[in-house]
Amino acid sequence: MLPHTALVLAFSILLSLPVIVILGPTVLTQSHLHLPFSPQDELDDLSLFTLASTFHHHAPPQHKPSRIFQFSYQTKPKPKIAFLFLTNTDLHFAPIWNLFFHDQPTNLYNIYIHKDPSVNLTRPVEGVFKNRFIPSKKTARASPTLISATRRLLAHALLDDPDNAYFALLSQHCIPLHSFPYVYRSLFFSTTFDSPGLTRPTQTHRSFIEILTHAPRLWNRYIARGRFAMLPEVKYEDFRVGSQFFTLTRPHALLVVRDRALWRKFRSPCYKKDECYPEEHYFPTLLSMMDPEGCTNYTLTHVNWTGTKGGHPYTYKPQEVSVELISRLRESNFSESYLFARKFTPDCLQPLLWNFSEDRRICS
Ligand SMILES: *[C@@H]1O[C@H](CO)[C@@H](O)[C@H](O)[C@H]1NC(C)=O
Ligand SMILES: *[C@@H]1O[C@H](CO)[C@@H](O)[C@H](O)[C@H]1NC(C)=O
Ligand SMILES: *[C@@H]1O[C@H](CO)[C@@H](O)[C@H](O)[C@H]1NC(C)=O
Ligand SMILES: *[C@@H]1O[C@H](CO)[C@@H](O)[C@H](O)[C@H]1NC(C)=O
Repeated sequence: MLPHTALVLAFSILLSLPVIVILGPTVLTQSHLHLPFSPQDELDDLSLFTLASTFHHHAPPQHKPSRIFQFSYQTKPKPKIAFLFLTNTDLHFAPIWNLFFHDQPTNLYNIYIHKDPSVNLTRPVEGVFKNRFIPSKKTARASPTLISATRRLLAHALLDDPDNAYFALLSQHCIPLHSFPYVYRSLFFSTTFDSPGLTRPTQTHRSFIEILTHAPRLWNRYIARGRFAMLPEVKYEDFRVGSQFFTLTRPHALLVVRDRALWRKFRSPCYKKDECYPEEHYFPTLLSMMDPEGCTNYTLTHVNWTGTKGGHPYTYKPQEVSVELISRLRESNFSESYLFARKFTPDCLQPLLWNFSEDRRICS
């Protein structure tokens, strides 16, 4: 070894000492439990979330029913739905979503996509998904990376457009069950759709997120990081479960990107992998702790958990797709109808597309 190389080596070891001291414990725990987080990811997220939670658009006052307000109400921009797609494969159902958004006014919606950068994906060269990708990081099933990816989507959508009023989280396996105008009307104007007894527009909008207090194996999920790991922030009485796919109001989206305390708990790796689905607990727990009355406690995305295998819901195959299936998937005990559904195998595209076109023809 040349003398100066040795010197450089010694010097760089010396330089890296403080880094090891500062980051050592985290890095060691992480590599030990295979947590796919780097300190850099965490820092990037923190600056994005801080920006999103402190940035104020110059929006008109929302809750002042003065004459001026009533006048400006007429000219106020319309609220938009931010469609957030979380994916780690191609967006198989892009043609269906293209049809869903076809001819719809672009001032009523926005689309944002978080795609795992470690997977190869065919970039859409046309249609509604073109150029809608946000800076993304690696995701893994049953890990807190899915929480981070969702929070990144919310933060980008919050920053991007002050008119984004509802934030609907979807995946590449989701399809719409109704037309865009139906979805828009349901979220913003329907008086029967949301909680009965409250009439709009005086009512503030609620988030459609499943929040369950009782579920099999909830205790096992709670102690998956250790018996006392969630304390004192999250007591067992506060621990909730629900579907990963939700539709949040803007105040709730803000609340989620502002959170630091619960994230510090939920980002910890689990000892038991088969009891660890942080994304199914973090959002319902956080929102039920912060604003239980602001949540409907049910989701708008239908999923069939009958005969579940390995934490995966039932996945429909092409031969099952029919007009009857779509009608059955819309049926809900909670609201007037489900708006979205999952999961379908990619080769369901053709039958779904045919159904969707037929439906549009009949309904228009
Ligand atoms: C993605 O594609 C590139 C180039 O085609 C290839 O080199 C790489 O191995 C692929 N990565 C994965 C994860 O398939
Ligand atoms: C949702 O559930 C919580 C309990 O977790 C309850 O306090 C709240 O009232 C429920 N919200 C509605 C709209 O029923
Ligand atoms: C849900 O999945 C089961 C199979 O696990 C199937 O028999 C049932 O028909 C499905 N329900 C609906 C509404 O499609
Ligand atoms: C509605 O609730 C009933 C009774 O709990 C249940 O049998 C049925 O499957 C539910 N329907 C849907 C569409 O969830």
